[in-house]
Amino acid sequence: MARHLITSAIPYINGIKHLGNLVGSQLPADLFARYQRARGNEVLFLCATDEHGTPAELAAAKAGKPVAEYCAEMWEVQARIAEGFRLSFDHFGRSSSDQNRKLTQHFAARLDDAGLIREVSEKQMYSHADGRFLPDRYIEGTCPNCGFESARGDQCDNCTKQLDPVDLINPHSTISGSTDLEMRETKHLYLAQSKMKDQLEEWIDTRDSWPVLTTSIAKKWLNDGDGLQDRGITRDLDWGVPVMKGDAPWPGMEGKVFYVWFDAPIEYIACAQEWVDAGKGDDWQRWWRTDKGAEDVRYTQFMGKDNVPFHTLSFPVTILGSGEPWKLVDYIKSFNYLNYDGGQFSTSRGRGVFMDQALEILPADYWRWWLLSHAPESSDSEFTWEGFQQDVNKDLSDVLGNFISRVTKFCRSKFGETVPDRGAPGPLEQKLFKDMDAKLTEYEAHMDAIDIRKAAAALRALWVMGNEYLQEAAPWSTIKENPEQAATQVALALNLVQFYGIISAPFIPDAAATIAAAMRHEDTRWPQSLDEALGRLEPGHAFTVPDNLFTKITDDQRADWQARFAGTRS
Ligand code: MF3
Ligand code: ZN
Repeated sequence: MARHLITSAIPYINGIKHLGNLVGSQLPADLFARYQRARGNEVLFLCATDEHGTPAELAAAKAGKPVAEYCAEMWEVQARIAEGFRLSFDHFGRSSSDQNRKLTQHFAARLDDAGLIREVSEKQMYSHADGRFLPDRYIEGTCPNCGFESARGDQCDNCTKQLDPVDLINPHSTISGSTDLEMRETKHLYLAQSKMKDQLEEWIDTRDSWPVLTTSIAKKWLNDGDGLQDRGITRDLDWGVPVMKGDAPWPGMEGKVFYVWFDAPIEYIACAQEWVDAGKGDDWQRWWRTDKGAEDVRYTQFMGKDNVPFHTLSFPVTILGSGEPWKLVDYIKSFNYLNYDGGQFSTSRGRGVFMDQALEILPADYWRWWLLSHAPESSDSEFTWEGFQQDVNKDLSDVLGNFISRVTKFCRSKFGETVPDRGAPGPLEQKLFKDMDAKLTEYEAHMDAIDIRKAAAALRALWVMGNEYLQEAAPWSTIKENPEQAATQVALALNLVQFYGIISAPFIPDAAATIAAAMRHEDTRWPQSLDEALGRLEPGHAFTVPDNLFTKITDDQRADWQARFAGTRS
């Protein structure tokens, strides 16, 4: 039995994610976790909310809530929506946990001991009225370029010019409105990533076949970008992991916190500790420490392409630099972007369909199937309502749903709700077995390799084969001259229904559960072989006709949703 550690990039706490975010990390990670569990492997699947940093502080301020309270509430919201999409995390943690605070402070201490941290003095805007340093996004003023009055410290939203807070005319704090600001010296910790370049390069070069998208981004930043420059890992903020050296104070760093991108990936490890502390597991070290059993774990990470530099460079620097035997990632599956109806999904502009809205209009399986079968793997992909309606209606309703309903209803009307006796397979059945056997092998190979679109195509092809078989075998005609042959055909088709439930479960878990319940066969073991799988329902086995599994999306619904989601979310 193999052991798979699987993590999805942890979503920011500030607000509900859109479908583009979902298909770029959490959903494909769930597909892989479900598949590996179904194959009988041991899986630890972790995700969490990414709670620190300015965006969380700003969102809390906007909601008029203390930031800790805001985060606790949004964690509940995100956890509930994740359940709605059937994301089967073994634990959904929080980067603001005690476990992550301790571990982050521990890593900082180890990196400092290894000589990988240095102090740098810089000048930053200080607000007397607020009694704090202001990050760029907390400062607004008039744009020196276009005269726009609420240009931010880092950029003017009107003319898009990149700015420095000192460039602004009449700068003021967005917290208090105060203009009593001054540039002051402040000290920060820098992680000496450049010292780790050789070690990092060697590690990347010895990874077995990462996807091109992942390796090309990693190499770009490693070699010709400035990605490996030493990076500031502290901030003058209140909300975050306080800068400490392990559990000792860090002189000169009082009142500062670690940069959110320093503590967020450490949460992958802390989350396993949270999982144990929540009583769901009893040993996190055998997943994360190579000296405690993790050497035979295969670790796969899922993320959007914008996250790749942090996972191929910064986080490995933290791990390798600590000099401790932590498990490093084996395979990084990264994704391009999903676009929305001719433009981009955008959280800040509220453009597109958000996870909560999606579940209000259709069950999770519809979204899961469409999103996964159109996963933006080799290039960006696009969501359009027409395409969504067409594909979902065809694949789920016309192909899979229709097959199940025809087979079960036909059997009920001619043989009753039990599997009829089955004679020897004829040439048509032999051909079906042969074709299906090859397709099943192909499907498994794509799932193993996390080639999601190809896997979806192979699964769809398996559904189509059942339909074609039924059409050719035509038990509704056979039954007139040869009832025994019709019985054989129907018994096989019922077994196909049950088989489809099992192999489709990673994509459409709710439909799979409905099928298993209707077939009164909750045995979800992955097929040992096609023969074995198609023999599980024996003659005389009782079943029921499942309720309509998938309802078609009508033109009216489509037009309605298209209009409703054309603008921006308020
Ligand atoms: N919150 C980040 C995002 O949504 C992802 C953080 S992933 C981790 O882009 F590595 F930091 F955990
Ligand atoms: Zn401007």
